[in-house]
Amino acid sequence: MLSLMSLCLASFVLLLSVSLSNSALNPESFKQCLTLNSKASISFTTAFYTPSNASSFTSVLASTAQNLRYLVPSAPKPDFIFTPTDESQVQAAVICTKKQGIHLRVRSGGHDYEGLSYVSQIEKPFMILDLAKLRAVNVDIQHRMAWVQAGATIGEVYYRIAEKSAFHGFPAGLCTTLGIGGHITGGAYGSMMRKYGLGADNVLDARIVDVNGKILNRAAMGEDLFWAIRGGGGGSFGVILSWKIKLVPVPKTVTVFTVSRSLEQNGTKLLYRWQQVAPNIDENLFIRVLIQPGNSSVAGKRTVITSYNALFLGGADRLLLVMRRSFPELGLTRNDCLETSWIKSILYIAGYPNGTPPEVLLQGNSQPKVFFKSKSDFVREVVPEIALEGLWKRFLLEDGPLMIWNPYGGLMSRVPESSIPFPHRNGTLYKIQYLTVWIDGEKNTGKHLQWMKKIYSYMAPYVSLFPREAYVNYRDLDLGMNQWNKTSFEVAWHWGSRYFKDNFRRLVLVKTKVDPENFFRHEQSIPPLPIRKG
Ligand SMILES: Cc1cc2nc3c(=O)[nH]c(=O)nc-3n(C[C@H](O)[C@H](O)[C@H](O)COP(=O)(O)OP(=O)(O)OC[C@H]3O[C@@H](n4cnc5c(N)ncnc54)[C@H](O)[C@@H]3O)c2cc1C
Ligand SMILES: *[C@@H]1O[C@H](CO)[C@@H](O)[C@H](O)[C@H]1NC(C)=O
Ligand SMILES: *[C@@H]1O[C@H](CO)[C@@H](O)[C@H](O)[C@H]1NC(C)=O
Ligand SMILES: *[C@@H]1O[C@H](CO)[C@@H](O)[C@H](O)[C@H]1NC(C)=O
Ligand SMILES: *[C@@H]1O[C@H](CO)[C@@H](O)[C@H](O)[C@H]1NC(C)=O
Ligand SMILES: *[C@@H]1O[C@H](CO)[C@@H](O)[C@H](O)[C@H]1NC(C)=O
Repeated sequence: MLSLMSLCLASFVLLLSVSLSNSALNPESFKQCLTLNSKASISFTTAFYTPSNASSFTSVLASTAQNLRYLVPSAPKPDFIFTPTDESQVQAAVICTKKQGIHLRVRSGGHDYEGLSYVSQIEKPFMILDLAKLRAVNVDIQHRMAWVQAGATIGEVYYRIAEKSAFHGFPAGLCTTLGIGGHITGGAYGSMMRKYGLGADNVLDARIVDVNGKILNRAAMGEDLFWAIRGGGGGSFGVILSWKIKLVPVPKTVTVFTVSRSLEQNGTKLLYRWQQVAPNIDENLFIRVLIQPGNSSVAGKRTVITSYNALFLGGADRLLLVMRRSFPELGLTRNDCLETSWIKSILYIAGYPNGTPPEVLLQGNSQPKVFFKSKSDFVREVVPEIALEGLWKRFLLEDGPLMIWNPYGGLMSRVPESSIPFPHRNGTLYKIQYLTVWIDGEKNTGKHLQWMKKIYSYMAPYVSLFPREAYVNYRDLDLGMNQWNKTSFEVAWHWGSRYFKDNFRRLVLVKTKVDPENFFRHEQSIPPLPIRKG
């Protein structure tokens, strides 16, 4: 059974087998270009990695990459990796890749589900611009804001806020090793979303490098582009250098709990009830459900364990009142509750063992990596018990399956759908994330992907439809990929409307305005409209 920790820290892989031309690429001329175009001098020995030094290249490539599916030997490898230490070096990288026809991938925290920040399945030669060394976090409590560079992890951001104030926080992801750079580009939800919305709802300004290598802030980029980068997905509009985020108030004492029930303990009925309760309960309370296989009391029988994992922005006494009134079926007791600080609740929800010091948030990810595949769904009507029974049967057919059901409601329902590109708002009860995780290499990848397709197809009648919505931060290339030989716009509508609903149209218009030649592109980047000739 997979622990929370290993998830967080933790084929035919290629859908396309395009024959990639092995064009001779000269790193020396690229380095020269960088030197000419960067204000700061570059120490190439520690900032530039090519396959000719296999050991350092491989370790930098793998450093933050999360999905082993995209690190196997058969996955396409970049021709080089550049790790800038200065904003002007990022500008130079954009200018030089454009000049020399090198395809660019940008990486902040490396958590992309389909490896889009470090693998290009569609173009060669390509390089990785890895922002891991641009990770300064400057917190200004007095003005309730912080400037954070793209390469910082959200754990570092949380730590730096808590270091200065026990009464401030930021509402972003649960897994603390995510890069703030890529994370916010897709929305960024976490355990305070019902109270404060998404990370992307709480961005005040940004600095980006545009397609011309210019640095733009909010005033310079204009409101259209500033809208697009807050939820329109990474890698389509420019390179985010830093975000200016708005801090939110948190109480000195918060309460967390995890209560588990198996199917034998009325797990199905309870989950049925949760669907009605969790999206409507007090906004200070976020109760997600982790669903995993487990051993039942009947010897040798596998069962399903549902774990109710929660954060309450307040003390245990008040939480117990809320639960008694709204969700007595869970039977929460005082003993289940742990009162703690907001920063320690972050560690608890991320799965760190009790007593782990917050300084762990400043360290990199030391957990073993896994192979995984994921998909998402948004649920708008309560799923009947009988359908849940059918789901359990299929769920238990897989070796390492996991689902995370994440409640919506609260502020999420009051933010208009077009406020930022992330459209999954009012009417959404909760999101389902399906995951399958394995560690025994590539050989059974096909089997695991097949299982995922089956469970996704089983759930079709019970989830959002027209479009069947999906979360862009859970990239899923099964939903479709850009094909440059066709009108990309037509092809992209299939996945674009699922991630963004009607906001996809505006994203395409912004893209057409700021990057008409489609310099920033990947398997699921926002396509520009075709350039009109003449
Ligand atoms: C274990 C795990 C747990 C997760 N938990 C959550 C969660 O709790 N909440 C949530 O909302 N999401 C969660 N996610 C999803 C996560 O938000 C996305 O994968 C996000 O894109 C990660 O950002 P990154 O910088 O780490 O990724 P990267 O792989 O570096 O980048 C992701 C995408 O953004 C692009 N990009 C990266 N940096 C930049 C930049 N500076 N400018 C422009 N484009 C850029 C990349 O090219 C790529 O397309 C989780 C993912 C994993 C693997
Ligand atoms: C290869 O990289 C390692 C680590 O960065 C470095 O110590 C070593 O000197 C490099 N070797 C060569 C031949 O450049
Ligand atoms: C399950 O629910 C039924 C009625 O809803 C109840 O009688 C029974 O005690 C419950 N069982 C457990 C283990 O909670
Ligand atoms: C479940 O039972 C199997 C076989 O008896 C055992 O190997 C496994 O460790 C058990 N898992 C848990 C989570 O107890
Ligand atoms: C949300 O939708 C419901 C009906 O689906 C509607 O009654 C309610 O007014 C909406 N709320 C907001 C804030 O738009
Ligand atoms: C376009 O490219 C895809 C692969 O990228 C290929 O499968 C398809 O046949 C091509 N279509 C045309 C019309 O060339």
